[in-house]
Amino acid sequence: MSLVITGIGELFTNGPDDILSDAAVVVDGDRIVWTGPAAHAPAADERLDAAGRAVLPGFVDSHAHLIFGGDRAAEFAARMAGEPYTGGGIRTTVAATRAASDDELRTRAGRLVAEARGQGSTTIEIKSGYGLTVDDEARSLRLARELTEETTFLAHVIPAGYDPGDYVDLVTGPMLAAAAPYAKWVDVFCDRGAFDGDQARTILTAGAKAGLHPRIHANQLAAGPGVQLAVELSAASADHCTHLSDADVAALAGSDTVATLLPGAEFSTRSPYPDARRLLDAGVTVALATDCNPGSSYTSSMPFCIALAVREMRMTPAEAVRAATLGGAQALRRTDIGTITVGARADLVLLDAPSYLHLAYRPGVPLVHTVLHDGVLAGMTACTEPRPAQPADGRDSEGQKGMPKEGT
Ligand code: NIG
Ligand code: FE
Repeated sequence: MSLVITGIGELFTNGPDDILSDAAVVVDGDRIVWTGPAAHAPAADERLDAAGRAVLPGFVDSHAHLIFGGDRAAEFAARMAGEPYTGGGIRTTVAATRAASDDELRTRAGRLVAEARGQGSTTIEIKSGYGLTVDDEARSLRLARELTEETTFLAHVIPAGYDPGDYVDLVTGPMLAAAAPYAKWVDVFCDRGAFDGDQARTILTAGAKAGLHPRIHANQLAAGPGVQLAVELSAASADHCTHLSDADVAALAGSDTVATLLPGAEFSTRSPYPDARRLLDAGVTVALATDCNPGSSYTSSMPFCIALAVREMRMTPAEAVRAATLGGAQALRRTDIGTITVGARADLVLLDAPSYLHLAYRPGVPLVHTVLHDGVLAGMTACTEPRPAQPADGRDSEGQKGMPKEGT
């Protein structure tokens, strides 16, 4: 079944055409098969009139923590009254997550995915990290895998009462073995109060040996070794990047590691934003993501993150939209999403606005009118079904899982 979308006021492609006006897009099944001037659009089985709306690639939210119980609204209120964010509240969420049933966790995460889809996210990465035991981490990833293929085993913090060395042994041994069948990525919170550089290297290296590709929470709360470690291990992304030295920026610029910025976290913790201009001007590839989690950033909205990036981080609106689409795809090492080009997945967002500029110009306004995910039209709050998960043993010739030709 093919579909032609006509009457597109502005088409933001992230491809050679850059931004087209009076454009059309043709979708066949789950793929984009044609883009160009509306006057030359070929016929298709069905037609959708965009009525002058702007059309963008679906947002790629490459960093979210959606498997959790409870909430931390009181912690947020205390912060707004002057308490600092330390990450200490992670333990509150760990207790609530362990106490929750599978169905409770599944329902919460499913609602957040639906919420994100309604705001234009067509790909969402989901991390574990609020279980911290072998069974609770494996359970978190099993549930995450029901919603997306972009699942990440996150070594988040060392639980109270553990010798750090013993806990790293547990993470790299039985926990990794239980998590790996459901995970594509391995991540570690390398920061003040969490894992140090050596522990993080041990965990990411063990994860890579188990077929998971590294990514890392780095330099959020303080300067540290995380970004350098990301580059050393060719991690797909270094996430947060709030406290960077010149050497960190230079290392990122000379690497294929994406700097994923999460301005929702700085907003919700009232912290200084990362210096996006410094990264972009140095030639670093930047992604934007929500970091959706109950502690530091309880938003599922990529449009909100785009608005923050423009207003608070001095990204241009075009840079911010690119980072929220193509940048996210690069952070997930995906070439089939994040662009409106022939052969890409038919993941599109129609805005109730004539231009992508309105995402930052009209902050807080629900501008996402229609979402096309895998070529299927979804209404404002509809949640389309996830694609079937890849077999857990589906690995490429380099022994890495994922980089699927087909995937969520
Ligand atoms: O990415 N920084 C570490 N982890 C999460 C926050 C976790 C929490 O506070 O619950 C983050 O911001
Ligand atoms: Fe995070």
